[in-house]
Amino acid sequence: MQNEKLLEVRHLKKYFSTPRGQLHAVDDINFVIEKGKTLGVVGESGCGKSTLGRAVLRLQDPTSGEVIFQGEDILKYKAAKMKQLKKDMQLIFQDPFSSLNPRMTVSQAIAFPLIIQGVISQKDKAALDKRVNELMDLVGLAQRFVNSYPHELDGGRRQRIGIARALSLQPKFIVCDEPVSALDVSIQAQILNLMQDLQKEMGLTYMFITHDLSVVKHLSNDIMVMYLGMMVEYCSSDALFAKPLHPYTRALLSAIPVADPDCHMERVILRGEISSPIDPKPGCRFAGRCIYATEACVGEEIPLTEYEPGHFVACARINEIHS
Ligand SMILES: Nc1ncnc2c1ncn2[C@@H]1O[C@H](COP(=O)(O)OP(=O)(O)O)[C@@H](O)[C@H]1O
Ligand code: SF4
Ligand SMILES: [Mg+2]
Repeated sequence: MQNEKLLEVRHLKKYFSTPRGQLHAVDDINFVIEKGKTLGVVGESGCGKSTLGRAVLRLQDPTSGEVIFQGEDILKYKAAKMKQLKKDMQLIFQDPFSSLNPRMTVSQAIAFPLIIQGVISQKDKAALDKRVNELMDLVGLAQRFVNSYPHELDGGRRQRIGIARALSLQPKFIVCDEPVSALDVSIQAQILNLMQDLQKEMGLTYMFITHDLSVVKHLSNDIMVMYLGMMVEYCSSDALFAKPLHPYTRALLSAIPVADPDCHMERVILRGEISSPIDPKPGCRFAGRCIYATEACVGEEIPLTEYEPGHFVACARINEIHS
């Protein structure tokens, strides 16, 4: 049986008008995520990851393209239908501190989406308390914190509140935008494990955004590497780590410390100018920093091509580099 497609994004673009021109934050992105799976979205700060996540959730309307969720293009939905859909599609932020109201206790913060979406009435205190307790258990937050304020908790516990809020409406799909980037490494692992357990338990589908490839290695089924708004490589997580193709992906990977003494991947230091995302010229946007760049890389758009079955890459010199 074929796996069920939950989300398909086609030719998605999000441009911002700036005084200097059109900023191509997300530029013709295509991908599919199957139900219960995770797509990792990786790239440096400013490459458009958050904008992509927000565009997919329609927190910011895309410039053009299609976002097909459960078979329907949600960009065509009117406000009322979109509000209904918000229950199914949620966002977990990098820094829950900035998204949590400092004057709300843990219990109020977790109850808030339930009240706003009309799932449980504010007057039904017993039902709200019961659901808040369930959600705190689900994310491993001890009941003794129920009346605590965000500033009284550490980063890991605050992120557990963020996850509980996202789960409160029983979503199908969650955009996780750098959810562990602000946490200590030891706490990162706990939160990642929690997210994996919840995924299995609840059949969740994730789009997991990070600037750190090592974070998504074990979590993602597929990985998309973005550079200045564009997708430069897209394949299974196993294929990406076994045989990274794009020079940019190779540079990102080489920056990850490895425990294996037999692994001799040389550290690639990225030098050169990062080109501007404003009215970018046709050609490879990575050319200014790529050691393989020649005139073949500029002047014309470089399409994403299937180099090996299921392994896509956008590089004009891919055959020469990997011959
Ligand atoms: N509201 C906005 N108005 C103008 N430019 C924006 C806006 N939001 C993001 N950008 C720009 O879009 C690009 C992508 O930003 P972002 O999606 O936040 O990247 P990332 O999450 O990968 O760090 C950046 O150049 C950023 O400056
Ligand atoms: S197209 Fe050229 S500049 Fe871009 S990654 Fe490939 S070799 Fe480097
Ligand atoms: Mg971001």
